[in-house]
Amino acid sequence: MTALNAVTDYTLDGEVGVITLNSPPVNALSRPVLEGISLGVAAGLADDGAKAIVLICEGRTFIAGADIGGLGSRREERPIDPMGDLERSTKPVVAAIHGTALGGGLEAALCCNYRVAVPSARCGLPEVNLGLLPGAGGTQRLPRLVGPQKALEMMTSGAHIPAPQCHEMGVIDALVEEGKLREGAIAFARKVLAENRPLRKVRDINEKVEAARGHPEIFAAFRKANARKFRGFLAPEYNIRCIEAAVNEPFDQGIQTEQRLFRELLSGEQSAAQRYAFFAERQANKIPDVPDDTPLIPVNTVGIIGAGTMGGGIAMNFANAGIPVVIVEVKQDALDRGLSVIRKNYERTASRGGITAADVEKRMGLITGSLDMNALATVDMVIEAVFERMDIKKDIFTKLDAICKPGAILATNTSALNIDEIASVTSRPEAVIGLHFFSPANVMKLLEVVRADHTSKSVIATSMKLAKKIGKIAALVGVCPGFVGNRILGQRQREAQKLMFEGAMPWDIDRVLYDFGFPMGPFAMSDLAGLDIGWVKEKSNGETIRDALCELDRRGQKTGAGYYDYDENRVAHPSPVTEKIIQDFVAKSGVNARTITDAEILERCLYPMVNEGAKILEEGMAIRASDVDVIWENGYGWPVYRGGPMWWGDQVGLDKVLAGMKKMHAEMGDLYKPAALLEKMVAEGKNFTR
Ligand code: 3HC
Repeated sequence: MTALNAVTDYTLDGEVGVITLNSPPVNALSRPVLEGISLGVAAGLADDGAKAIVLICEGRTFIAGADIGGLGSRREERPIDPMGDLERSTKPVVAAIHGTALGGGLEAALCCNYRVAVPSARCGLPEVNLGLLPGAGGTQRLPRLVGPQKALEMMTSGAHIPAPQCHEMGVIDALVEEGKLREGAIAFARKVLAENRPLRKVRDINEKVEAARGHPEIFAAFRKANARKFRGFLAPEYNIRCIEAAVNEPFDQGIQTEQRLFRELLSGEQSAAQRYAFFAERQANKIPDVPDDTPLIPVNTVGIIGAGTMGGGIAMNFANAGIPVVIVEVKQDALDRGLSVIRKNYERTASRGGITAADVEKRMGLITGSLDMNALATVDMVIEAVFERMDIKKDIFTKLDAICKPGAILATNTSALNIDEIASVTSRPEAVIGLHFFSPANVMKLLEVVRADHTSKSVIATSMKLAKKIGKIAALVGVCPGFVGNRILGQRQREAQKLMFEGAMPWDIDRVLYDFGFPMGPFAMSDLAGLDIGWVKEKSNGETIRDALCELDRRGQKTGAGYYDYDENRVAHPSPVTEKIIQDFVAKSGVNARTITDAEILERCLYPMVNEGAKILEEGMAIRASDVDVIWENGYGWPVYRGGPMWWGDQVGLDKVLAGMKKMHAEMGDLYKPAALLEKMVAEGKNFTR
């Protein structure tokens, strides 16, 4: 074996030269890895004994893409062309894939003549999720292999496609036995030699792209079908344009188009925000005082208290991950209802092809119901998901303390209540933690893990690991009203309401926030949820706009009217009735309604959020600014291409945010007091996120 550089070995196995890359954790295309590929190809070509070459990786995965941290940084280095070296090789090159071949990793594999993979491997071009497009020839090579339609789907979704499916699509030439990748790849290379197969290059395979030439409707239909999903994002459109180039331009010209569009995205604000989000999510798992080697508590069974929407959704997460769950309810009919909703959810997913009918049964088989809390005596973790009332929660935790085995984690899904107070009724507050799921809990990615005063490090470490296992993105927060997400949301909601009393209409406020990139504005959201949540007809006395609307039976989408009027297709229209109600309220309050600009609406809604984020950091309720952003992007619809409130505040300029807060403070009082941390950051010329 010859070491070619710190991350690359070359060895001859029979008549096959094997290049092995070893650059943990994911063999990303750092400069040494790129150099290693070029050195490896050169070694294979120079080795008279080698008639073919295999490119393989050590560790958990094949190359998982370019080194994201290094993207965009200018380097004065000797230019190298490892992709070209692979493609120009005069001896056949076989990529041997395990783990994931993603982004630049798959692009490298596409420069090889052949690709083999173990069945558990996955391939994808996920650059779109970083606000980018594949910039190493992938946009021109993939459509040549799989055709434009599949390339559109793969590149704009960034999906990691299982190897068997890649095999069907033609991305992978052969599947080899799990655990025997090296042998399988070498055997495949020998077969290529024995059969004297040509040095097939993906760049020369033109049938599928030529067939799509002169059919712009393929792209028009794709754009139309996905317009809602792509709204606000630049990268999907740029990926589409590259595939159009693959169809309409010769290969080399297509590569130039790809390069031009790649550079444009890479230097833009969206990709910077999305790359930040990638690392922010991973950073959120790192807890300074909870080291990596903190002992974990094995969680093999979970109990859930409450079979309502939340409890059912939470249960599904565990069943999806293969962890048995017992759901405890008080009444049989509530339990039956809860279980049947879960089944319906699974069946709906199956009817759309997301899972198989067998998966439905398997997952339902992992979920059992009980009316007896003693069923929780043996579980490793309990998550309470009942009504938000302190007395009920205290009662439950008192019982859990008596029933659950020593060492079990006792979690509450509260979104508002003081977890220290809940923990105080147990003899083991170190076992108590908050796991704040978001509705619908089987869909929403975010998990706020709430650390109470006495929560043990093991319980925290286990909860963070478990979150990843069930497909959640977790952030650790402290106990404070609303925790991090809802506390910041409170600022925006308050401002939206106040702006109405100053002359802005709900649809103006919603439009500004929607155009900013939120999926919907606060008033459209209220209409969707129902204005009557928490509203009691008998107690209503027309004191608020909501009271007035509900009294007119304008209780939201379900009644055909709320803040908005809804037509038969549930399309919202500004409502003259609501407008009149608001105008009357404003007139009664003696305020002179004024014209409020879109810019002011945005600042009034968002600056206080940044300010609250600063207060949260100041109080230590979030570990770092990027955790706040992770929460807002994954739980509250903050557009990822705008990075989250703290990142956004930095981009706007913290001095500008502070000046805005000072103005609001002077005009409207202490609710708007600038956070001391914000003042400090500005005084020191610092940013939250960089
Ligand atoms: N560059 C730099 N670091 C990377 C990386 C990459 N491409 N991919 C993963 N890492 C790092 C992570 O930051 C993390 O570091 P940490 O331990 O210090 O936090 C570590 O590798 C492990 O990553 P995960 O925690 O995400 O591990 P998982 O096992 O859960 O997932 C993975 C592995 C599926 C490979 C996932 O990391 C992933 O999706 N990575 C990104 C893949 C990607 O987007 N590739 C395209 C890059 S852009 C590109 O290639 C441009 C080209 O077209 C020119």
